[in-house]
Amino acid sequence: MALYTPQLASFKVPAIDNEPMSCIVNGKEVKTGKLAKQPMPATHAKHLCTYHEADQATVASAIKGALAAKAEWEAMPWNDRAAIFLKAADLVSGKYRYKLMAATMLGQGKNAWQAEIDAAAELSDFFRFGVKYVEELYSQQPLKNAPGAWNRIEYRPLEGFVLAVSPFNFTAIGGNLPGTPALVGNVVLWKPSPAATYSNYLVYKILEEAGLPAGVIQFVPGPPEEVVGQAISHPEFASLHFTGSTLVFKKLWKDIAANLDKYRSYPRIVGETGGKNFHLIHPSAEIKNAVNQSVRGAFEYQGQKCSALSRLYVAASVWNNGFKDQLLTEVAKLKVGPPTDFTNFVGPVIGRPAFDKITGYIKQAKEAGGEILVGGGADDSVGYFVQPTVILTKDPKSVTMVEEIFGPVLTVYVYDDADYEKTLDLIDTSTAYALTGSIFASDRKALLHATNRLRNAAGNVYYNEKCTGAVVGQQPFGGARASGTNDKAGSISIFYRFVSARSIKENF
Ligand code: ALA
Repeated sequence: MALYTPQLASFKVPAIDNEPMSCIVNGKEVKTGKLAKQPMPATHAKHLCTYHEADQATVASAIKGALAAKAEWEAMPWNDRAAIFLKAADLVSGKYRYKLMAATMLGQGKNAWQAEIDAAAELSDFFRFGVKYVEELYSQQPLKNAPGAWNRIEYRPLEGFVLAVSPFNFTAIGGNLPGTPALVGNVVLWKPSPAATYSNYLVYKILEEAGLPAGVIQFVPGPPEEVVGQAISHPEFASLHFTGSTLVFKKLWKDIAANLDKYRSYPRIVGETGGKNFHLIHPSAEIKNAVNQSVRGAFEYQGQKCSALSRLYVAASVWNNGFKDQLLTEVAKLKVGPPTDFTNFVGPVIGRPAFDKITGYIKQAKEAGGEILVGGGADDSVGYFVQPTVILTKDPKSVTMVEEIFGPVLTVYVYDDADYEKTLDLIDTSTAYALTGSIFASDRKALLHATNRLRNAAGNVYYNEKCTGAVVGQQPFGGARASGTNDKAGSISIFYRFVSARSIKENF
C-alpha cells in the first residue's frame, strides 16, 4: 500500500512560528489577553501555538462588524466574489500547500498523505467547485415566460449573519463552513475548533490575501458559551453551518428553538454530525480488495473521520476463507507514531478526552465478551496513541457495534451466510446514524438488492470501495438520521440553504 504521493517523500515539515495568534475582526488582529494553547497530539512536550480567545466584547463587535460589511459584500459583482475564492484555491494548492499540511499534521495529527488530501486537495476543491456551483445556481431560472410578462428569480443571501462552527478533523471543512455561505454573499462569524486553530487561522489569512474584504468572515476562536451562545441569541442570527458531534448539534438546535421569537426569519440549520459507518461483505466479495479497503476505511486518520468505517459485517464463508487472516496481517503491519515520521500510518488521536473515550470503549467491549483480534493497546506517555484495534463480537448490537467511537477501532460481526437478509435489517436498524456505508460484492444483483434494502441506512454508498474519502464535485457528501441534515457538501445542493430566493414578475 503506497502511503503518500512520491513528491512527499522529499517534503520537510516546515517550522511553525510560535507568535500568539489573534481573533480577526474587521480585518484586524484582536488581542483579548485571554490566552489559550493548541496542543500537539503527538507530543505533550510541545504545543503548536498560543492564541487569544474571543471574549464577549470581541464577539459582539465581530457580529456588528459583519453586519456592517454585509451590504458591500452582497453588492459586489459575482465575478469579483468568485475571483477571491479562485485565488484562495490557488494559494491553498500552491504557495501555502506545505504550510497548511504541516499545520494539519502537527496540530491535528494527520500523516502527510492524509494532510495533503485534506488541507491541499479538498480545501482548494471546495473553493473551486464552490464557484462553479454558484455559477450554476445563479443561472437557474426555471420559470416559464408568457407573452406580456417576464419572470425571473434572484438568489439573495440570507438576512442577518451565518454562524459557522467547524470541527478539528478536516482543515478543508474548516474553510468550507464559512466559505460556502460567504460565496453566495453572506457574512459569517467563524468559530474554529480549538484543536485546529492554527490551520484554520492560516485558511483565514489565505482568504484575506486573496482579497476577502474585512468583516465578511470574522475569525473568532473561543469557548462555545462566548461565541456560539452570543451568536444564537442575537436577533440577526440567520443560519448555523455546523460540523461536529450529534450531541452538540442537537443541543444547538434546541437552543436556537428557544430563541426563535427573537429572529426575523426561521434560521437555516445545516449540520453534518456523527456516523457509525458500515462495510457489508457479501459472500461474492473479492477478498483482497475488501480487506484493503476495510483497513483504509477504518484506520486512515486513526478513524477520526465522521465517515470512518467502524462496523464490519462479513459473511462466514468469506471470513473463514482468508478474509480474517488477511485483515489481521494487514492491520498488524500498520505503524503507529508521530506524523513527522512518514513511515507511520496511524498517528495520535486528537487529545485526552478522545483517548479516554476510545480506550474506554475497548475496555467495555472486552468486558462484554468481545475478542480483541489485533491491537487493543494504547500509550499516552508521549502523545495520544491508540493501536489500530479489531474486535470480534458475537452480539451485533454490542456497544462498539452501535455507538460512535471516533477512533481506530473496528468491530467485526461474522454473519451466517444463511442469515444475509437478517443482516441487512441489522445494518439498517441497529444504530441511530446514516452517514456512509459500502457494499462489497462481485455479483451485481447483490449490489442492487443490498442498495434497495439499505435505502435509508447511509447518505453516501460505495460499491467495492471504502466508505471514506468522498471527493468534492464527485460524491456529494452527507447523511440523514442522527448524521445530519443531508444537505450534501461538495455539491450545488448546499448552496440553496444559504440563499433566500425572490421571484420577480414584470408585466409589459
Ligand atoms: N468527506 C469526508 C469523507 O468522505 C469526511 O471521508
